[in-house]
Amino acid sequence: MTISPAGFPADGTARASAAHAAPAGAASDRGPVLQVRDVVVRYGGVAAVNGVSFDLYAGQIVGLIGPNGAGKSSLLASIGGQQRAQSGSIVLQGRNVTRAAPYTRARHGIARTFQTTSEFENMTVFENLLVAGRGASGASLWRVTVGWRSHRAEERQVEAKAWGILERFEMVDLADAYGRELSGGQRRLVEIMRCLMRDPVVLLLDEPMVGVAPHLVERFVRDLRTVAAEGIGLVIVEHALEVIEQLCDVVVVMALGEVIAEGTYEEVVANEEVRRAYLA
Ligand SMILES: Nc1ncnc2c1ncn2[C@@H]1O[C@H](COP(=O)(O)OP(=O)(O)O)[C@@H](O)[C@H]1O
Ligand SMILES: [Mg+2]
Repeated sequence: MTISPAGFPADGTARASAAHAAPAGAASDRGPVLQVRDVVVRYGGVAAVNGVSFDLYAGQIVGLIGPNGAGKSSLLASIGGQQRAQSGSIVLQGRNVTRAAPYTRARHGIARTFQTTSEFENMTVFENLLVAGRGASGASLWRVTVGWRSHRAEERQVEAKAWGILERFEMVDLADAYGRELSGGQRRLVEIMRCLMRDPVVLLLDEPMVGVAPHLVERFVRDLRTVAAEGIGLVIVEHALEVIEQLCDVVVVMALGEVIAEGTYEEVVANEEVRRAYLA
């Protein structure tokens, strides 16, 4: 999948009207890009995730909600590969990646944002994107072998891609800002932009709104919609239900490691068991 600034919707309005609808025809015809089946994650003897299943389609946004300790982060980690699933399966575009290492899953298109590191802080936004993008195409040894000329060509491609992403997210003015100079919301955005440098199939977001100023939440929601409109499937863990309501096509509700409800936002908030879990 290539990222083209041209032809990309400037905002998420086109998609907004499709929220809560079934996945777009072409995408659903090809089946889900991610199939999570009966996944179990145990810490010691305790099952933090106890038989969770859901599907994610291209361009779809699935919201994962539930009380603290429900197993949401553990489930995301089992998809990203940071945590092994003791049983069940994770299938990405027909490929079983249940036992694959995190970097292998990343290569096949599973991206996950991480909180910023000191490395992030001490590089500019542009450098951060380049570093993320360079890793995307094979081993550096191969590049040395094929020579400097093709290395330069590839580097120019990565740079062009970074500019494209900066333009799309209206972050060009911040290209030379250091990571440490960014606001909470800008950091979250750059974390996502770094993921996009790798052309992911699936993007996993664990509480991406943490540290985003309230007046920027709306913009953030719009940005995430544009990411999905590109055809990327999103799984988002988020506490703020108004964000989930605005963003998600499907909401999966977890409690004590299990899925207790799944449906549109309206459906799950009307569910008695969900109400009990949230009040408990
Ligand atoms: N690395 C870990 N080691 C042991 N127990 C863990 C670990 N991570 C999470 N847990 C436990 O697993 C359960 C689910 O946690 P988590 O996946 O973080 O839930 P959530 O993200 O929904 O709050 C909790 O009881 C938590 O204490
Ligand atoms: Mg969590």
